[in-house]
Amino acid sequence: MSSPTSLLIRRPTIVLPNGELTIGDVLIRDRTIVEVGTNISPTTSTQEIDAQGLTLLPGVIDPQVHFREPGLEHKEDLFTASCACAKGGVTSFLEMPNTRPLTITQQALDDKLQRAENKCLVNYGFFIGATEENLPDLLTANPTPGIKVFMGSMHGPLLVDNQEALEAIFSQGKRLIAVHAEDRTRIEQRRQEFANIHNPAIHSQIQDNQAALIATKRALNLSQKYQRRLHILHMSTAEEAELLRSDKPSWVTAEVTPQHLLLNTGAYETIGSWAQMNPPLRSPHDNEVLWQALLDGVIDFIATDHAPHTLEEKAKEYPNTPSGMPGVETSLALMLTAAMEGRCTLAQVVNWMSTAVAKSYGIANKGAIASGYDADLVLVDLNTYRPVLRQELLTKCGWSPFEGWNLTGWAVMTIVGGQIVYEKGRVNTEVRGQALQFSNQLL
Ligand code: DOR
Repeated sequence: MSSPTSLLIRRPTIVLPNGELTIGDVLIRDRTIVEVGTNISPTTSTQEIDAQGLTLLPGVIDPQVHFREPGLEHKEDLFTASCACAKGGVTSFLEMPNTRPLTITQQALDDKLQRAENKCLVNYGFFIGATEENLPDLLTANPTPGIKVFMGSMHGPLLVDNQEALEAIFSQGKRLIAVHAEDRTRIEQRRQEFANIHNPAIHSQIQDNQAALIATKRALNLSQKYQRRLHILHMSTAEEAELLRSDKPSWVTAEVTPQHLLLNTGAYETIGSWAQMNPPLRSPHDNEVLWQALLDGVIDFIATDHAPHTLEEKAKEYPNTPSGMPGVETSLALMLTAAMEGRCTLAQVVNWMSTAVAKSYGIANKGAIASGYDADLVLVDLNTYRPVLRQELLTKCGWSPFEGWNLTGWAVMTIVGGQIVYEKGRVNTEVRGQALQFSNQLL
């Protein structure tokens, strides 16, 4: 695979910014899309890609992942995770601060950015984590998509559920606050109630819908009180979706994961503790209400919450099993398969997985196929179905909750900054992404 300065993608079906589909050509020079048209003439140095029969989408921007570096590299690292991204059509990601050390200072943020510059094949951004003590860091950290607040489902300094501390974080500064909304008190009470049960299915009852609803209400109240930009991470329940449907301030956004749309508590029977995540999987009714909220724009976009743990860790007995599942390799194919089944349109998938994410986080020049936009693209095949196979996975954890699922829309080629980073099963490990910049930190 080469990295020419000029690429011409010939005759794919292109999902245009207005959602329409057209067959045309896309010319890329250096890092940028310079022309979208028909019968574009190549120059002698242009590499031509015959994309007839394939579909060209803006690269996926995954706004919530846990890539484990530094400190937890036995599960994943920025190189393996970004290879998995390239294979999955994910060209940019926003990563969470629960690494070791925690990303709670500028120094820790700079360290991650440095590591990513050295080894990340796709574009990257890193959240700064809130503690009860690092308000000065939260006010000045740069560049970051925002402040991550774990209101529950976390131990140690990253758990912030004290009202005074939350008021301080919401009232000072203006940048986006992204919350993991689960209520610590309720979870702790219920953990005691169900203490002797070792079936992982109990996880969804311990961290139940109410636990999520209580915390989401609390975050919304704080956001309304201080008119503070709020993003609700991995919304999982019908109750939260209905709450947001009834009253969603213009400065609030929400996301959902493919697993909360496509898996439910029935998954414990087939994949056991692999199905354990936070917030937990819910009922088929929750799946349906979340889908409808996404279709209606109550939920704005999709994130994977890629949270890899080793097979050995996942094989422990509940509650010693860690929560989380990998996702970046399967998210696009899962959503495109849903589109092919008629659950949504291709244009909606593009909006939820790229355009709306770029807009919400103020990532300039990404999320659309148009002249002047960054050449972060994914060419997918919507004509064939292939199963999710463990031996093909690039995530270091080496498993997927979707193994055996027969999906379409797999990436055939992924392009980051005008360079081919993935093509037909092969990753070009020479390619490097860039640090993302975020402009809409303010209301
Ligand atoms: O299931 C989860 N796992 N949810 C989280 O919020 C954290 C994540 C992890 O880091 O493993």
